[in-house]
Amino acid sequence: MPVAIVTGGSRGFGRALAVDLAGGGWSVILDGRTAPSVREAVAELEALGVTVRGIIGDITDAHHRDSLVDAAEHLGSLDLLVNNASTLGPTPLPKLEGYPLDELRRVYEVNVVAPLALLQAALPLVRRSHGVVLSLSSDAAVEAYEGWGGYGSSKAALDRLHQVLAAEEPDLAVYQFDPGDMRTEMHQAAFPGEDISDRPRPETVVPMLRRLLDSGAPSGRYRAGQLEPA
Ligand SMILES: NC(=O)c1ccc[n+]([C@@H]2O[C@H](COP(=O)([O-])OP(=O)(O)OC[C@H]3O[C@@H](n4cnc5c(N)ncnc54)[C@H](OP(=O)(O)O)[C@@H]3O)[C@@H](O)[C@H]2O)c1
Repeated sequence: MPVAIVTGGSRGFGRALAVDLAGGGWSVILDGRTAPSVREAVAELEALGVTVRGIIGDITDAHHRDSLVDAAEHLGSLDLLVNNASTLGPTPLPKLEGYPLDELRRVYEVNVVAPLALLQAALPLVRRSHGVVLSLSSDAAVEAYEGWGGYGSSKAALDRLHQVLAAEEPDLAVYQFDPGDMRTEMHQAAFPGEDISDRPRPETVVPMLRRLLDSGAPSGRYRAGQLEPA
């Protein structure tokens, strides 16, 4: 069975993807900092009859990242690494003029440094499988929205890291996937007090990503809207 690591697989888009992969027979390793959410996600996947490892921890912690990679090693391969866990940073979203710099450092640590560090730890295993590396991008990586400077610049950096990886690792598929707006906790935090019930649920976006994964498309940046489910 193919094996995937999905960071932030305990809720939101990461969980929807983890469930979908499990439904397709994948073994899944997922994480999150909040123990009950990780346990819930594990139970949901186990009910599908697949092998699942839920590891509680913070992606900025090197020991935690090593545990994720060790779990994959133990399962025998790593076919898909999904850098999904992410932080929006302070909310309401501050303008750059007053952006707290310690919070900006944390945004970069979670959204840029930790995904690269996980990638470094996982690369030997991914290479062995000629696998796929996927990072979650955002339109804020390419569009300049007021207040989105911290998160948006971190996502732009994450995109570029993965684009350089694609140049350095031609035997791997390296995708940046922009899912568009989704009805999740992160999106609600970006729009405090707003009714976001018109945004699509993550489960409706996952099939577009699965289409990309199944397509064998060249490495690159893809938007959900370009990838309608078959
Ligand atoms: N929602 C949108 O509209 C939207 C739009 C464009 C792009 N995206 C991107 O899509 C991805 C998923 O977003 P989402 O909306 O599903 O987010 P979400 O609802 O906030 O879920 C984030 C997941 O990541 C985990 N997580 C957060 N920080 C972590 C850390 N430091 N270490 C380990 N796990 C951590 C969370 O669990 P814990 O909090 O318990 O750790 C949770 O499982 C993100 O990369 C986001 O930037 C989202």
